[in-house]
Amino acid sequence: MPPKTIGLLTSGGDCAGLNAVIRGVVSRATGYGWRVLGIRHGTMGLLRRPYAYEELGPAAASSTVLRLGGTILGTTNKGNPFAFPMPDGTLLNRSAEIAEAVRALGIEALIGVGGDGSFAILRRLAAEGGFNLVGIPKTIDNDIGVTETSVGYDTAVMVATEALDRLQPTAASHDRVMILEVMGRDAGHIALAAGIAGGADVILIPEIPYTVEAVAAHINKIRESGRNFALVIVAESVPAPGGAGVWQQHTGGGQTYGGIGQVLAGAITSHTGAETRVTVLGHVQRGGQPTASDRLIASAFGVHAVDLIAEQKFDRMVAWQNRCVVDVPMAEAIARPSLVDPDGTLVRTARGLGIGLGDGR
Ligand code: F6P
Repeated sequence: MPPKTIGLLTSGGDCAGLNAVIRGVVSRATGYGWRVLGIRHGTMGLLRRPYAYEELGPAAASSTVLRLGGTILGTTNKGNPFAFPMPDGTLLNRSAEIAEAVRALGIEALIGVGGDGSFAILRRLAAEGGFNLVGIPKTIDNDIGVTETSVGYDTAVMVATEALDRLQPTAASHDRVMILEVMGRDAGHIALAAGIAGGADVILIPEIPYTVEAVAAHINKIRESGRNFALVIVAESVPAPGGAGVWQQHTGGGQTYGGIGQVLAGAITSHTGAETRVTVLGHVQRGGQPTASDRLIASAFGVHAVDLIAEQKFDRMVAWQNRCVVDVPMAEAIARPSLVDPDGTLVRTARGLGIGLGDGR
């Protein structure tokens, strides 16, 4: 019997820990005697002719790969195959080309490492194209339901925490209010966790509505206590005073959240007279070496995903629950995003520490 062939692709925004996943998958599959085809640049590799892929051998199973940031396979967060943007501006359904590539390459099961958007597309491709799929959750935003953590989140929190560590001495030296804007899309997980770990005075997240007056009152209280600097961390999707989201247009098209830090700086200065400076952390949160925790989760996810294929269990996503790797139906995992619980442990911890959440409580 020829060895089983499985496919592996990384999809959506990159993050630290993707290569640790690849290493976990290749190591485990090699143990079963299977071939792993690494698809380049997510589903884009299956749309190219000739197909863009490589057979992943011992080098991809090495501990050198485990430590690397980014993804050795490349990824994309553009080019939905069901509505693929064509040069003439139209959108074309190219999903049949992907099913044809999966069949032609002899892929018996595909492992997709992605976030909720990628999973929705991959599930539809698998259902319509008749191939088997297993999902591994990755996103710095940590907004995938059913799993307590996703690959990349811990590294992003560590980077944001370190940024606060670095901002604190310069804030104190200049008596300034330092505002750190972090990523997270519609969820405030990175801001909340890093804000607590990094000793922020104010944490603003999209799940808790704020007023500039409450933020200013909190900063003034700190100043009255004799400390003339403050650290504010704000999630990128927090709206401007008045409620409008703040967006960044990118060259070549596309837009993402971005710019709320600068908006807040002006509002805080006009309400408190404080001198403010803004740091937008951006993609620094996604790059670099993964933390030990991300490497562990990624390794457990990679091994378990291959075991699922061995057990012929498909349309499932690996997940982390109660210190264990488990698997759940993909439909359940992407049914709703996981946002910060405004009554949850971390919010209560922040309030207990006297951190202002912008709601005056
Ligand atoms: O979803 C991950 C993420 O990093 C978000 O936190 C952020 O809003 C977005 O991707 C940035 O996307 P891009 O890489 O296209 O700038």
